[in-house]
Amino acid sequence: MSATESPEMQRKIYAAYRDYFDKAERKRRWNVAEDIPWDKCNNAIDPAIADVVQTFCMIELFLPDYLAKQIPDVRANKGRAWMLANWGYEESKHSMVLEEWLRRSGHRTEKQIEDFSEAVTDREWNLKYHNSTAAVIYTMMQELATQLNYRNLRRVAGGKDPALDKILELVSIDEAAHAQFFRNLTSIYLEEDRAGTLEQFRLVANTFGMPANDLLADGRERVEAVKSLKIFDEQVYFAEVYMPILQRLGLTKADLRPKKVFRAA
Ligand SMILES: [Fe+2]
Ligand SMILES: [Fe+2]
Repeated sequence: MSATESPEMQRKIYAAYRDYFDKAERKRRWNVAEDIPWDKCNNAIDPAIADVVQTFCMIELFLPDYLAKQIPDVRANKGRAWMLANWGYEESKHSMVLEEWLRRSGHRTEKQIEDFSEAVTDREWNLKYHNSTAAVIYTMMQELATQLNYRNLRRVAGGKDPALDKILELVSIDEAAHAQFFRNLTSIYLEEDRAGTLEQFRLVANTFGMPANDLLADGRERVEAVKSLKIFDEQVYFAEVYMPILQRLGLTKADLRPKKVFRAA
């Protein structure tokens, strides 16, 4: 379902997008072929780390679904549609750079990479929320969670692979920028329609799950590796996604309590 944003709100969203895009062009563009010290990949790094890299790469590979299913709802909203185009370009680099690391580090063969790419194509990501405000809120949370996934993997990898270290640094910076953009958008939606946006916020916060939970049914062990290496779990979600987002948006837990409906007996 498409939200009916006023022309004024659409202008604000487009202005937020232009600001995001101009900053990205100035400060954040990087190059898969040239900006990674590819000669410094470490074949001896813990194989569990390569498993997590594969998991993250597979999640990024669902990009055609992320775009194909989200653009139709926002095609008349220029800021949101253009953002998806630019976001798609940035996300496409993430799967490419992770795949390249798996290949160059020798942790996966060409055939293994083809096989897991095919496994992605055989499945399909679907929209969880059929409401365009909920989609913004979900993306805000998911992008922040993704940034933490990459940041925490970088900590676990502990500087033992300079190529992977650089990759995870660049990708986490992109994910942080995505999270910030979608948070700005959520602020715009709150300004325009506080009650309606809070209702969607409650729904998303109570049902949030990372795509890996649904998409990688065949990769339970790899998903478990993410948990056992303490890269992401419920505690990280609560302390580093949910609470900071509330704080940055100036919301309290009381704002997210369901409104009581009083009925005459
Ligand atoms: Fe990404
Ligand atoms: Fe992202």
